[in-house]
Amino acid sequence: MTFDVSAVRALYPALADGHAYLDGAAGTQVPVPVIDAIAAAYRAGIGNLGGAFAASHRSDVIVAQARAAVADLVGGTTDGVVFGPSATALAYRMSEALSRQWTTDDEIVVSRLDHDSNIRPWIQAAGRVGALVRWAEVDLVTGELPAEQYAELVGPRTRLVAVTAASNAIGTRPDVAAIAGYAHAVGALCYVDGVHATPHVPVDIAALGADFYATSAYKWSGPHVAAVVADPALLETVWPDKLAPSSNAVPWRFERGTLPFADLAGVTAAVDHLAGLGTLGAADGPVAGATRRERILASMAAVEAHEAALFARLVDGLAKLGDVTLYGKAARRAPTAFFNVGARDPVAVAEHLASHGVNVWDGDNYAYELCQVLGLQSEGAVRAGIVHYNDDSDVDRLLSGIAELIVR
Ligand SMILES: Cc1ncc(COP(=O)(O)O)c(C=O)c1O
Repeated sequence: MTFDVSAVRALYPALADGHAYLDGAAGTQVPVPVIDAIAAAYRAGIGNLGGAFAASHRSDVIVAQARAAVADLVGGTTDGVVFGPSATALAYRMSEALSRQWTTDDEIVVSRLDHDSNIRPWIQAAGRVGALVRWAEVDLVTGELPAEQYAELVGPRTRLVAVTAASNAIGTRPDVAAIAGYAHAVGALCYVDGVHATPHVPVDIAALGADFYATSAYKWSGPHVAAVVADPALLETVWPDKLAPSSNAVPWRFERGTLPFADLAGVTAAVDHLAGLGTLGAADGPVAGATRRERILASMAAVEAHEAALFARLVDGLAKLGDVTLYGKAARRAPTAFFNVGARDPVAVAEHLASHGVNVWDGDNYAYELCQVLGLQSEGAVRAGIVHYNDDSDVDRLLSGIAELIVR
């Protein structure tokens, strides 16, 4: 499958400002079909769900289509897709609901690699019921989260293992299937943070062993909406706090208040956009008869290859510059570089790059625990993240901007 990055970039109006958008790990830009889908929903007229009139029916359809789209993206079931405002809000929602079944005899396992949104809600929920929290540690030399440690961490008292599918700081993609295997062997659940992984690789939640898989559409060219995907049969066993008149059915009972209908139209368009990335600009077009799920898997494989080449260019370039400390060198990594330039303050590096039209993040990026153990604290490091619309020139501009700093 081909990957025509110029054709991809042409779909993103924001890129016309000429900046090198290497901040995608904190949120991607949005392509024309997504912008159009959101505008079209508002233009057509939408109403709240379940009414007797056409505008309400349009919202019913938008929600159903968005659930189907996210299910296709991650290999889930339509009725197992729960929408919410952010992965953080959903982690709180799910942790509150799941922890109702925990007692002081129970334990949970969190990891030092995770974004704080897949740590703190679980710790706070465990604290309320008096459950014990165990920590999986990161190998600070390699940046790996060794799966074998879960043999010791997980036991008959474990109720839940929360782990990321990819670090939003150092990129590490742990062996989630093995970790989930340890959880399942003792009847525990595995809550997987897929926020950073989803934009970069083909995702199959069954293969990962994820009982819950969180993803945020704004990380993959969509609007600011998140979803947690689970087996509807599992969701049936969980009861959240909810309003009396709102639906008791799954997945609706987990969705508090009115959903952002126009944005959900954008979510579907974003999934369709991802599904088409691998054939954009190709003469042969999509494979005839392929389902959207099949097109997503093929397209995301093409995205992964495109991003891997750019990431190699970035990592090699940083190594050649000298005076750059790159954190983490895990065998399987999302294309996200977390580094410092000599003893320079990361924010000063980010400001220097911004003055050259290069967008990068500085700080701990909420990889709070990881930055603590790396000794970086909240100043953290500089983060440059590759996404599918980046190209060689984005990487080269970053490298020359840093080279300039080192020479000075
Ligand atoms: C790995 C990871 N998990 C969770 C989050 C939080 O997502 P949200 O902003 O949807 O709460 C982020 C956001 O940066 C992230 O990168």
